[in-house]
Amino acid sequence: MMHTRQTTPKPSHRLLRAFGLSLALSLGSAEYGAAAEPIKPLPVMIEVNEAKAELGRLLFHEPRLSKNDTISCATCHDLSAGGDDGQVVSTGIEGRTGLVNAPTVFNSAYNFKQFWDGRAHTLKEQVDGPLQSRIEMESIWPDVVTKLFQDKDYPRMFQQAYPNDSQIISRENIKDAIAEFQRSLITPNSRFDQWLRGNVGAINEQEKEGYALFKRYGCVSCHQGANVGGNMFQVFGVINDYFRKRGNITDADLGRFNVTGNEVDKHAFKVPSLRMAAHTAPYLHDGSAGTLRDAVDAMFEFQLGREAPDEDKEAIVAFIKTLAGEYRESNYRFDLGESPLSAEFQEDSRNGHLGQSPAPNGLQEISVVETVEGSPPADIAETISQNGKAPPLRTGRAAKPAAESEAAGRSGRSGRSGR
Ligand code: HEC
Ligand code: HEC
Repeated sequence: MMHTRQTTPKPSHRLLRAFGLSLALSLGSAEYGAAAEPIKPLPVMIEVNEAKAELGRLLFHEPRLSKNDTISCATCHDLSAGGDDGQVVSTGIEGRTGLVNAPTVFNSAYNFKQFWDGRAHTLKEQVDGPLQSRIEMESIWPDVVTKLFQDKDYPRMFQQAYPNDSQIISRENIKDAIAEFQRSLITPNSRFDQWLRGNVGAINEQEKEGYALFKRYGCVSCHQGANVGGNMFQVFGVINDYFRKRGNITDADLGRFNVTGNEVDKHAFKVPSLRMAAHTAPYLHDGSAGTLRDAVDAMFEFQLGREAPDEDKEAIVAFIKTLAGEYRESNYRFDLGESPLSAEFQEDSRNGHLGQSPAPNGLQEISVVETVEGSPPADIAETISQNGKAPPLRTGRAAKPAAESEAAGRSGRSGRSGR
């Protein structure tokens, strides 16, 4: 199933030390199939500005960003539990509730846009949303700046992170620091990534079968790339009308339409990343799927219009659970001089578009990227590809495998289980 290809990797001992590993897989002799797969491994580490990221880490956990000093970003994006809040919809300031399920912040730097409807282009731009939202933090920027100025530590930290700015603490700097921190929230070294990088025993037979089915049923035409999602908009209900079945349609259900006003964007959402899905129940933009299995059932019913045997769905769930990697706050503490990352990747990461294909606007035509045993069922491939308007999806440039040395440890993260 995996294509064999010889590579000549440069081992990075520094990286291995940083991860505290005793065993490294030598890819020089191992099969390396990642280049041929529609899902790419996440980089093991990324470049960030440490002073900014550390400041951003504090700000991410800072309740003074909210009007009454009660809500921080971490209130709804718990980094010890999947990077979301485990609720159907989030509860913000004064107990107010929103309309959509909180996505994880992990690997969000890999999304081509932010929010379910993609209304923010970058992580930095995204920060304005929750901070000013009446439901979430209900703040205004001048208040936040004043509060941080009165703190005994922040002025010094801002000064260190932004030494050339005349206004030390500003809206721009706060957003920038938070974005920089969020770029460090990557979850590398999942069992699936280990397998992609050539460790054939990293996933078991059922999980391998799940991945084969994920490609064969066409899931991969929407969930793909380094983030296994996050690089296109697609209508929810391509084949069957989810919203008619559920009823009680809210503004948020209109999805991308709220941003563009285009009829074709009605009920279109950014295809969510499945990287952390093992830990982020409940699922879907409205939080209506309680378990990973429920979400997969919904995909079969509304996106594929297809029945599938129980064991196929279970195998797919098992595969999705292998996608979650490790998170360490020290992921960004490394020396750029010895970084094994390619120049191209570093450039992308500076621009805030980590390893995803360039952002297309609007819906994208999709086609089944790869099949395992023979062709995908023709009817599915065809119906799916009729959905889009833009040119066919390009799969050429997803994230480069960043570290060519492989980490061999197993993920130690704990969090809610998607069951
Ligand atoms: C009250 C809960 C709550 C708070 C507080 C909150 N968020 Fe969120 N966050 C959400 C919800 C809900 C969404 C999805 C909103 C949407 O798509 O319309 C979201 C979306 C996001 C996204 C986009 C992820 C994606 O995949 O599209 C990022 C990034 C993010 N939040 C970061 C932050 C940061 C940074 C802060 C603090 C400044 C913050 N959030 C505060 C609930 C919250
Ligand atoms: C036509 C594109 C498309 C196809 C094909 C597709 N998905 Fe999805 N998937 C989406 C979209 C869009 C969403 C978000 C829908 C929503 O929340 O309104 C989603 C959501 C999900 C979620 C929930 C993620 C979360 O965090 O809420 C899972 C799990 C999932 N898909 C798995 C699959 C599986 C497994 C398959 C194949 C059986 C599949 N998808 C096929 C587009 C697709």
